[in-house]
Formats: sequence, C-alpha cells, structure tokens
Amino acid sequence: MIEGREIVAAGKLSYGMVGGGEGSFIGDVHRKAIAFDGLASLVAGCFSIDYDDTLRTAKKLHVSDDRVYENYVDMAREEAKRSDCIDFVSIATPNNTHFPIAKEFLNAGINVVCEKPLAIEEAEAAELSMLAKDKGLLFAVTYTYSGYAMVKHAREMIKRGDIGEIRVVMGEYAQDWLATKLEDTGNMQASWRTDPSQTGKSNCVGDIGSHIENTVSYMTGLKIDSLCSSLDSFVTGRKLDDNAEILVRFENGARGVYWASQVAVGHDNGLRVRIFGSKGSIEWEQENPNYLKVAFIGEPVQVLSRGGGYMLPSAAGVSRIPAGHPEGYYEAFANIYRNFATTLIKRKNGDDTSDADFPTVEDGLSGVRFIAKAVESSQKGSIWVSL
Ligand SMILES: NC(=O)c1ccc[n+]([C@@H]2O[C@H](COP(=O)([O-])OP(=O)(O)OC[C@H]3O[C@@H](n4cnc5c(N)ncnc54)[C@H](O)[C@@H]3O)[C@@H](O)[C@H]2O)c1
Repeated sequence: MIEGREIVAAGKLSYGMVGGGEGSFIGDVHRKAIAFDGLASLVAGCFSIDYDDTLRTAKKLHVSDDRVYENYVDMAREEAKRSDCIDFVSIATPNNTHFPIAKEFLNAGINVVCEKPLAIEEAEAAELSMLAKDKGLLFAVTYTYSGYAMVKHAREMIKRGDIGEIRVVMGEYAQDWLATKLEDTGNMQASWRTDPSQTGKSNCVGDIGSHIENTVSYMTGLKIDSLCSSLDSFVTGRKLDDNAEILVRFENGARGVYWASQVAVGHDNGLRVRIFGSKGSIEWEQENPNYLKVAFIGEPVQVLSRGGGYMLPSAAGVSRIPAGHPEGYYEAFANIYRNFATTLIKRKNGDDTSDADFPTVEDGLSGVRFIAKAVESSQKGSIWVSL
C-alpha cells in the first residue's frame, strides 16, 4: 500500500517546530519535506531564539497568532493543554538545545522528531531514550542519509548476504566550507558549530562524522566494538576539530576507516561509503545519490539506477519518480517523515508498526556515544577505546 494514501484516509497530523527561523538552514528543509506528502500541517512554532524573528517566520508560514510562542517551554506546556495539541514537534535548533527542548516536549506527552546529534552528553541522550520509552512516545532523529532509496537498496542487499561477510568499511565525509575562519565573518551556521558551548565536545565529528557512523550502521547493521581517533583543528584559533580520522573495529571482526573533514578544499558535501564483503562490494555517494556501484568477485562492476525494475522492496517503496529524474536531499527527509507519520497513525490506531523505518532515539544515543568516544580517544593520545 502507498503510505501516503493510507495516512490521508486516517486523517492529517499536525506538528509544531522549534527552530527554523530566518536565515537558518535545516528547519525549512524539514518543513518542505513534511509538505511533500501532505501528511502533517504546521500549526505551532517557536522558530527562533529571537521572538521578532519567530513572529515574522510564523506570519510567512501562516501559523495562527495563538500558537506562536516566545519560548519552547511555553510552547510545550500550552500545546499540551489544547484538545487539538500538535501530534509531534520537530526540533531544528543548535546541538546544545536538543536535550532540554526534547525533554520538555516528552514530558508534555508530545512525540518528537529531533535533529542530530541528539544531545551533547551521552547521559542526556540516554535520558531522552528512557523518557520516550517510559512515556510511550515516538522519537525520530533525522539522520538524513538513511532516507535515500539507494541506501535502503544497499541495506537490503547486505542483509540478504549479497556481498557476503563484511570485511572492510571506508566512510568519508569531505567538505571545505570551514577551510577558512568563517565563524569570524558572522556566518550563523559556522558560529555555533565551532563554539563548544553550543555544539558540544566536537565540531567536525559531531556535525558530519556522526553521519558516517549512522549511514554505515544503517547500511550494514554492524556494531562498533572500539575505535581509535585523531581529531585536529587546522584553522588557526579554532577551538574545536575541523578534521578527523577514525579507525574502527566492528564486533564481527570487520575493520573501518572514517574520515570527516571541513577543510577538504574542493569538496562540497562528499559523503561516500564503500563496503567490502567476502563476495562483493557496494559504494554509495551522497552527491550522486541515485546510483549504487556494486561489484561481485570475477564479474564486471555494475551501476544500479534508482527507479530500475530491479530495486528491492524497501528502496522501491520510497522511490517517487521514474529513473533518471534525480531525487535527493528533500526526498530523503520526506521519506523519513512519511514513515514516522504513518507509524504514528498506526500506533494511534493500535495497528502493527513493524515496518517502522526511521532513525530512532536509540540511533541518536549510539551517535552521541560515538562522538564522545572519538573525542576521548583523541584526547588520550589516539588510543583504542571501547564503545
Ligand atoms: N540532518 C542533517 O542533514 C542536518 C543538516 C544541517 C543541520 N543539521 C542539524 O540541525 C540543527 C540546526 O542546524 P542549522 O544549520 O539549521 O542551524 P541554524 O543556525 O541555521 O538554525 C538554527 C535555528 O534555531 C533557532 N534557535 C536557536 N535556539 C533556539 C531556541 N532555544 N528556541 C527556538 N529556536 C532556537 C535559531 O534562531 C535558528 O533559527 C543542528 O543540530 C545541526 O546539527 C542536520
């Protein structure tokens, strides 16, 4: 069944947003992605740390005055009192605010979708995980890349054993936007990401290394046993890492090398994952996301195209338009939201939710632990640390 049709029959959800004010990056991506399937309407918000910005943003988004809030505490508490309370909140604010905001909404009995990294401290992430469980609430963490059709295809191929036992994983995320001291120019995104009080213990691993960790984990199902890392800051005066190399040992004996960099001149958003197994290999790149490179021992290398008739069910189910018409970032977010929304409806109706397929609060917790261990290893002189 088409997920969108199912939910329209069940009725539309409503949501609120914290973050996503003027000039911000990801909040607007979330809003557009949610709108893709018409599954939920934006009805409430606290869009900015600056109330005037919140008011202007709310006006542009046609949010009614009585549901525009000066701060997230008022929003959670006032919404909880309403008979038409939002079904979920979407949190798109800097890292240090995720924990208090998500906690406030969970305590108000409201389901949560939160940006990554879930929190800046592992204990905070664990508390959110426990709280969501205790309250019986749904909690998604928007690790974008799990929403891509070809990532799902790779996952399904790996799960059914097509490339055999995984031996080696190479994950890289190369960007160059912080190759200069952009934070000194007033750039909003650079300022908080390089400020430990807002971003947490790591800039580069927290911001993009965490995406490697989640994408590999989602595609392979492998669990990290231990890691050894070197986090460095190449731009003079920068307080946190802008480049990191991380060696990884997985529980099944596989080995991995992760490289995350914001000083890799000539690279925009180069997330690439290569997975090598005993029978074959798989390679996916986020800047060319509609294709998957697959190889089997002794056979010519194949390039699979999103939308091809050979796509496996999990990938076919999220592929929206015919092959050759590129899908990308917005669709990936939309796929996460569509599954989250349908799962929410099914839970409300007491239906089976075993086809839930979005990154959860537990994935968020694993990500925060990964970041903490990468920092710990590097600070202790690049020693191996267990996860
Ligand atoms: N999943 C992804 O691919 C992806 C991509 C980019 C950013 N992110 C994550 O999204 C989050 C936001 O990043 P961004 O680049 O959009 O940041 P941004 O600086 O562009 O926007 C942050 C917004 O949050 C608002 N804000 C801050 N504190 C607030 C508060 N207490 N209450 C209400 N609003 C508040 C700001 O005013 C601003 O509008 C970060 O955690 C980041 O790691 C994820």
